[in-house]
Amino acid sequence: MAIKKIGVMGAGLMGAGIAQVAAQSGFEVNLMDVEERFVQKGIAIIEKNLKRQVDKGVIQASQVDQIRGRITTCLSPADLVNGVDMTIEAVIENLDLKKKVYKELDSLAAPGVIFASNTSALSITEMGSVTNRPDKFIGMHFFNPVPAMKLVEVIRGYGTSDETVAVTKDVAKKMGKTAIEVLEAPGFVVNRILVPMVTEAIYVLQEGLATAAEIDEGMKLGANHPMGPLALADLVGLDTLLSVQQHLYEEFADPKYRPPVLLKKMVRAGRLGRKSGKGFYDYS
Ligand code: CAA
Repeated sequence: MAIKKIGVMGAGLMGAGIAQVAAQSGFEVNLMDVEERFVQKGIAIIEKNLKRQVDKGVIQASQVDQIRGRITTCLSPADLVNGVDMTIEAVIENLDLKKKVYKELDSLAAPGVIFASNTSALSITEMGSVTNRPDKFIGMHFFNPVPAMKLVEVIRGYGTSDETVAVTKDVAKKMGKTAIEVLEAPGFVVNRILVPMVTEAIYVLQEGLATAAEIDEGMKLGANHPMGPLALADLVGLDTLLSVQQHLYEEFADPKYRPPVLLKKMVRAGRLGRKSGKGFYDYS
């Protein structure tokens, strides 16, 4: 099955990145969000990233219009699935919301359309179970910032067919990404390892052992990480990070995954990292 057109649901940081990389790789894209202002924010992210690539000489200025021309924006699930072979969903990490979205999409999309979720940790099997196509339901987990990060985790739910896995891996490859195939489990592979490391950095800060800048400097210079764990938390979004931590904690029922109180307080205060202008660092 050849995928030509992809519907991307959610025009936030991840959805916009996925839509950009898909369009840049030659796929036609329907990009949907629930309000025009969210769609426009996503388009602004894409245009900024494309400009950065032009400035760096990665692409020609003339390519920008071609890439933009492959992206159609819309505000309804019916328009999202119009003519697509696959959808990639990147709405917020709320299982009930995602299940509601998938029930509706399932009733609107042609039976052959593959549903891929960009969830960071939630159950592919549970989302797929609300549809009549668990064999065509799969996880396709991109990493932030999507244009820069080369990995996609391709996650097999309980009913995902071999064909769906093969088609999804092929799409990832055409997007210039390397796919690793992962069996479904909380946090999959990368977040299962990465999130507890970031959590530990927040505990170190909470215990007052070092400042945020010193903790980050330590991991950059002492472990050769491209950015420190607290700067990474700000990049991912503290609310997203907390939701992954809570999910790991609940699913494994293991105290080693418990979210730090400091992080909960920051999220409650609206300090969500880069996207809100303040997190462990001030971006205003
Ligand atoms: N958006 C899009 N592209 C970006 C970007 C952004 N915000 N920031 C940087 N890039 C791109 C640049 O365009 C550049 O691409 P080219 O090589 O094609 O020119 C490349 O990234 C490197 O950029 P820079 O040299 O300007 O910046 P850098 O060397 O400081 O790298 C970084 C920036 C790529 C973000 C790097 O710091 C890094 O890799 N950080 C770690 C990121 C990470 O671990 N992400 C995973 C988060 S976890 C996750 O996403 C999973 C989840 O579910 C929560």
